[in-house]
Amino acid sequence: MRRLEVIILAAGQGTRMRSDLPKVLHPIAGRPLLRHVYETARALAPQRIHVVYGHGGARVQAQLADLEVRWVEQAQQLGTGHAVAQAMDGVAEESTLLVLYGDVPLIASTTLERLVAAAEAGIALLTVELADPTGYGRILRDGQGQVARIVEQKDAQGAELAIREVNTGLLAIPASRLRSYLARLDNANAQGEFYLTDIFAMAAAEGVAIATTAPAETAEVLGINDRVQLAEVERHYQQRQAAALLRQGLTLCDPQRFDLRGELTVGRDCTIDVNVVLEGRVVLGDGVTIGAHCVIKDAEIGSGSQIQPFCHIEQARIGPAARIGPYARIRPESEIGEAAHIGNFVEVKKSTIGHGSKVNHLAYIGDTSMGQRVNIGAGTITCNYDGANKHRTTIGDDVFIGSDTQLVAPVTVHSGATIGAGSTITKDAPADELTLSRSKQLTFPGWKRPVKGRP
Ligand code: UD1
Ligand code: CA
Repeated sequence: MRRLEVIILAAGQGTRMRSDLPKVLHPIAGRPLLRHVYETARALAPQRIHVVYGHGGARVQAQLADLEVRWVEQAQQLGTGHAVAQAMDGVAEESTLLVLYGDVPLIASTTLERLVAAAEAGIALLTVELADPTGYGRILRDGQGQVARIVEQKDAQGAELAIREVNTGLLAIPASRLRSYLARLDNANAQGEFYLTDIFAMAAAEGVAIATTAPAETAEVLGINDRVQLAEVERHYQQRQAAALLRQGLTLCDPQRFDLRGELTVGRDCTIDVNVVLEGRVVLGDGVTIGAHCVIKDAEIGSGSQIQPFCHIEQARIGPAARIGPYARIRPESEIGEAAHIGNFVEVKKSTIGHGSKVNHLAYIGDTSMGQRVNIGAGTITCNYDGANKHRTTIGDDVFIGSDTQLVAPVTVHSGATIGAGSTITKDAPADELTLSRSKQLTFPGWKRPVKGRP
């Protein structure tokens, strides 16, 4: 195969997004548009990727600093031909060039491989037939069916407007040939721009073969100009991911109401109910069920664990065979052990919960190491913050903590200890004993409640 280089055009203003954020930084499935295109380009193993930026360039480069690309500025957006020309001084003469758009994120690498292969004989252009071609450049063919030229919507007249085969903008061409065409572009057209599309008339005039290929799916070439299209492309992307997961054996109660913004690995027979949002890297063991309306980010959930509805889990490991929720919040650096239960309105942060331990209702467990078979009563709070520093709470195995207890850290409750309900524990509680701190209960016989209007 020939040496391949890619140019991604990303200098457009994106005015119709009505946004302060540069268009190519708007996300699809949580990742900027440009990152999607970049990753697809990378799959072709090109020698080099050039990104032509303009509007909001500093921000684009800052947010995508990890991209291995050559950044090329196009200070003024004078057209697609002008944009490509800005990158040419960094392109090797013997390369084949693949031109992509930063705002066409669904393009598949297999389609691009076919496009690049089709350029062997001359130039290759990706085209599609659209029921409504409005807005696109039309492909004009000669009597033999060869591409003769491309006419832009604003320059098209009469019968040209009825042509339904359109230019996607994506093409592959030997760099040396492109260079000679770019030098001859002018901007004598309806928009006063240097059109990249004008190179096709030049090639046809020279008798250069122009091959056209179509994407496997029309959705691949959907471009994003406004937030309506952004939303459409997001749904396409989510449907693709959902379909792939269903084929892997995951049950999605409704694939239309599933959002994966990252990577999901699933075991056998997992089920995900509606309106679940998964972010980052999420790994599910076998037989995991996730209830409706959960948000789970960067988490590992062990086999047989049940996440009940309305849970929020971030940067945590859970299970196996654990039961979380409904309405639980598991915060970063938490590990919930095998067969542990975390119930409703419980928040766990930077804590380990041992095998079979239960925190079933209305509790805050922060900066805590908890042993096995512990039972934490409703309303228990680890007071881990003194206003300046965080302190740890240690709870041994088989501890029972009565409801509405405050454990003022740093503090240790040793194995087998029982803490009476309503205690404020400020000193370590010894093993296997009952400890409580509680003021004496008093009754005032004959006491009368004050009544309004009477002294
Ligand atoms: C372009 C094509 C049109 C095609 C359509 C497909 C030309 C002249 N027209 O039209 O035939 O049907 O795409 O969507 O090529 N860009 C720059 N710098 C510029 C201008 C554009 O980087 O000066 C980038 C944009 O960011 C975008 C891409 O090039 O990613 C296409 O630009 P856009 O303005 O959307 O082109 P269209 O006029 O839609
Ligand atoms: Ca466009």
